[in-house]
Amino acid sequence: MGHATAPLRPATAARSGALKGDVRIPGDKSISHRALMLGGLAEGVTRITGLLEGEDVIATAKAMQALGARIRKLGDTYIVHGVGNGCLLAPEAPLDFGNAGTGCRLTMGLVAAYDFTTRFVGDASLSGRPMGRVLEPLRQMGVQVTAEASDRLPLSLRGPRAPAPLSYRVPMASAQVKSAVLLAGLNTPGVTTVIEPVMTRDHTETMLSGFGAALEVETDADGARTIRLEGRGVLKGQVIDVPGDPSSTAFPLVAALIVPGSDITIRNVLMNPGRTGLILTLQEMGAEIEILDPRRSGGEQVADLRVRASALQGVTVPAERAPSMIDEYPALAIAASFARGETVMRGLAELRVKESDRLAAMARGLAINGVDCSEGGDWLSVRGRPGGKGLGARSAETVVATWLDHRIAMSFLVLGLASEHPVHVDDCAMIATSFPGFIGLMTGLGAEIKET
Ligand code: S3P
Repeated sequence: MGHATAPLRPATAARSGALKGDVRIPGDKSISHRALMLGGLAEGVTRITGLLEGEDVIATAKAMQALGARIRKLGDTYIVHGVGNGCLLAPEAPLDFGNAGTGCRLTMGLVAAYDFTTRFVGDASLSGRPMGRVLEPLRQMGVQVTAEASDRLPLSLRGPRAPAPLSYRVPMASAQVKSAVLLAGLNTPGVTTVIEPVMTRDHTETMLSGFGAALEVETDADGARTIRLEGRGVLKGQVIDVPGDPSSTAFPLVAALIVPGSDITIRNVLMNPGRTGLILTLQEMGAEIEILDPRRSGGEQVADLRVRASALQGVTVPAERAPSMIDEYPALAIAASFARGETVMRGLAELRVKESDRLAAMARGLAINGVDCSEGGDWLSVRGRPGGKGLGARSAETVVATWLDHRIAMSFLVLGLASEHPVHVDDCAMIATSFPGFIGLMTGLGAEIKET
């Protein structure tokens, strides 16, 4: 069920004592989606541990089952029996992706070169998000799209009988668009080429190679990447251990930095350089983040993070860093609210088309909680107040609108942990899309968060 029809579950966060403890963060959402998709497509068995059991990923698991994969859980391991590349089955019912943009857009690519109809539906948030960015290249491959409203869910796709490979330059920094085109290339004869002028997270490329796809990546002097995939190859089941999600890590990490006296350790965090922009930015702001035991696990870099409360200083975050921390700006804006001086974040246009218009949702929520901030078309600046004096809701009526956006809800609950007054959010139900157990994990560290 989409949260638009579910009852709202308001929550409140209040000033907390020092956060202490040692936690493991749920699995990375991007890798979890891809593990189920590629496992469901590959021949043989894929075994996945550490899979994120969030609603978004469960929606992808159900979609893969509807497309013919067999998926079951045995102890801590998801066991996926794939159909074999080129052998997805036509789904009998619409695929409901709930709140999940990644699951939805990547699956559009996955089914694009099949001569059957797939219908995509989602919740109010997903139904408001632009799908044209994925449909545009798929149409160029000959996919027919039927939609009631232009390029919005609900919509149906039907692939061409004889798909032709595409060479596509991705016009915005989007790993989802890149991935959708590459996945469409899997059932297309010949070489599908994707050019991304700016590097985005590379999990699709890395994991496709891991499953045996013939894929090569070339990076030119300006950093533009050309990815070539030979279609109709054999994919073979793999063993995958999903590391902790750096995007979920952002919330306890920022909480520990802003709550005085805190000292926490976060274990097994994915440290792929395409995902670590927030850590770099926070370190520039003076954050004490120790990277412990850096190691490799399942082809990815991971580490443990020891985080201590720190005196933060405002910085200007360069626009070029946005792709490596695109989901982390809401959390960064909270850290900036407690920093000395101004933090300027540029190159944020993509934030307007996330689960909500995150730029507007952040600016509005910060302002009603007393944070001095300004918003532009593609930037946000925050003038912080170390100590948090005067921050938070002045009355129980000051409630942050979260717009079905998990990261907006988590960010403002973190704001309340170091503000003078409590912070109220109108809903926390959708946190389960990416970070089930968020409130329990945070209260276990000493955070004062409760459903109200
Ligand atoms: C994702 C890509 C990003 C990111 C999203 C996950 C992915 O979206 O915001 O949370 O797993 O490919 P865009 O491709 O829209 O930037």
